[in-house]
Amino acid sequence: MMMPYRPEAFTDFSAAAEESRLQEALKRVNLQLGEDYPLMIGGKTIETKRRIVSVNPSDYKQVVGTVLMADTPLAEQAIQTAHAAFPAWSAVSTETRADCLFRAAAELRRRKHEFSAWLMVEAGKVRVEADVETAEAIDFLEYYGRQMLQLAQRGERELTGMSGERNRLDYLGLGVGIVIAPWNFPLAILAGMTTAALVAGNTVIVKPSSLTPVIAVKFVELLIQAGIPAEAVQLVPGSGREIGDYLAAHPLTRFISFTGSKEVGLYLHELSSRMAPGQRWLKRFVGELGGKDAIIVDRDADLEQAAQGIVTSAFGFSGQKCSACSRAIVHSDVYDAVLERCSELADGLKVGNVQDFTCSTGPVINQSAYDSIGGYIDIARTEGRITAGGGPAEGDGWYIRPTVVADADPGSRIMQEEIFGPVLAVAKAHDFEHALRIANDSDYGLTGSVYTRSRVHIERARQAFAVGNLYINRKCTGAIVGVHPFGGFNMSGTDSKAGGPDYLLLFTQPKLTSERL
Ligand code: NAD
Ligand code: ALA
Repeated sequence: MMMPYRPEAFTDFSAAAEESRLQEALKRVNLQLGEDYPLMIGGKTIETKRRIVSVNPSDYKQVVGTVLMADTPLAEQAIQTAHAAFPAWSAVSTETRADCLFRAAAELRRRKHEFSAWLMVEAGKVRVEADVETAEAIDFLEYYGRQMLQLAQRGERELTGMSGERNRLDYLGLGVGIVIAPWNFPLAILAGMTTAALVAGNTVIVKPSSLTPVIAVKFVELLIQAGIPAEAVQLVPGSGREIGDYLAAHPLTRFISFTGSKEVGLYLHELSSRMAPGQRWLKRFVGELGGKDAIIVDRDADLEQAAQGIVTSAFGFSGQKCSACSRAIVHSDVYDAVLERCSELADGLKVGNVQDFTCSTGPVINQSAYDSIGGYIDIARTEGRITAGGGPAEGDGWYIRPTVVADADPGSRIMQEEIFGPVLAVAKAHDFEHALRIANDSDYGLTGSVYTRSRVHIERARQAFAVGNLYINRKCTGAIVGVHPFGGFNMSGTDSKAGGPDYLLLFTQPKLTSERL
C-alpha cells in the first residue's frame, strides 16, 4: 500500500551519530574533488574540448569538478534524441513513471548526507541548509510521483456523467521540455522541475547552472539508475547564452521550465513566444524568477520573534534565496528596538567555511556575486545607514558580513533591486497601511511575512499584500513541498506553485475522449 505523502524530516545534527555520518560523507566527497565528468547524450559518452570548472566558494583554490560542456551541435543531438524518445516514454504507464521517482527518492534518502556534502562544497551551504535542500529534493520525488497517480485517476472521476456515453480526460505529456535551473538550489529546484516534467510523460533536457554542474551530474545519474531512460533525461551543461538559447528557441521544444533571474526569465519568456520555422505548437513557458521580499513588523508584534525571523530570512544561505528577506518594514513605534536587535543578531553570525560547523553562514557563490554585492553595500552607504556588517569577512572564500542598512527610502535602489546577498534594508512605516504600501512598492511579489498580534491586520495582509507566499508570524523562507506550494506574483514569475497540487497540470495536455455506448 502506498503511504500518504509526508515531508522528509530534517536531520538533527545535535545527535553525535548524525554529525559523524555527515563528517564521513564530507570526507568521501572531499576525496572525489577535482574529478572530470563526461558529457552524456542519449546515454553515450561524448568527449568535448570545452569544460566548466566548478570551484568551491568557501575556498576558491579548490576545484570541485570539471564538467564537459555541450555546444550547439551537441544540443541539437540532445533535442533530436529527446524528441525521438518521447513516444516511448509518454506511453510508459503512469505507475511505472511514478515508481521511478519513488526509487530515486529511496536512493537519495540513503545517500542523503553525500548529496548534502556536495551541496556544501559546490554551493557553499552550511550543513543545515544543505540538509534541508536534500530533504526538499526527496519531497519533490515523493510528492510528484503521488500527484501524477492521482491526476491519472482524476480524468474519469471528476467529469459530469451523461447516460449513453463514456467520457474520460487523459492527462498526456506535452513533448520535449527544456529545464533551465539556477545555482542557488542546484539539487532541489533542478530535481523538482525535472521530475515533474518526466513523471507527466515528457522527455527532458536539463541545463544546469554553470556554477553548480557537479551536483546536477550526480542527480541525473541517480534518476537513470532509478529506471528513467537516458534518452528521456539528458543533462546538457553549457553556456546559457549559447545552448540555453538554442534549446529554448528550437522548434521541437514544447515547453521551457525555468527558474532564475528576472532578466533571463523575461528574455526566455519572449523567446518562447516566437514561432521557429517548422514549429507546430504554442510553447509553454513556466518561469519562477527573482524576489525582493519584505517582512512587516507591526507595533504590537512579538519583537524578539520578529527580529529572529528577519535575520534568519535575510542571512540564511547568505541571503541567496529568492525567498530571502531583503526589506524589513517596521512600525515607527518599535523601529529602534527591532533595528537594534536585528543588527545585534546579524553581528553575532559567524561567517566562514561551511565545513567548519561553528559557522552560521558561508560564502556567496562567486567573484561576480561578491563584486556586485560589494557594489550594493557602497550604494547602501549613500542611501542609508549601515548598522551591522558592511564589508568582507576573512577567509579564502567569497565571504561578506551580514549587513543591515537602516533608514532606507522605499524608492531607493537597495529597496527596489534584487541584491541576492547578505544585505538587509530596513525602512520605517508610520502605520500598518503605510507598511503594506511600502511592501507592495516592488516589481516583484514572491514571499512576504507579517509579524503582528492583530487579527484585523492579518486579514488585511491576506487581502492586500501582493505576494504568492504570505507568512504570518514566521520567517519568509523555507517553504515545504506539499505544505507551502511556492511561486510568485508579478515579476517574480508565473506563480506555478512548485510543490503544489496544480503544478503537474503545467506539463500535461488533457485530452477528452467521448465514446457513444
Ligand atoms: P540566472 O538567471 O543567471 O541563471 C539561471 C539559469 O539560466 C542558469 O542555468 C543559466 O545558465 C541560464 N541562462 C542564463 N542566460 C541564459 C540565456 N540567455 N538563455 C538561456 N539560459 C540562460 O539565475 P541564477 O543566478 O542562476 O539564480 C539566481 C536567480 O534565480 C535569482 O534572481 C533568484 O531570485 C532566482 N530564483 C528564483 C526562484 C523562484 O522559485 N522564484 C528560486 C531560485 C532562484
Ligand atoms: N523554496 C525556497 C524557500 O521557500 C526558496 O525558501
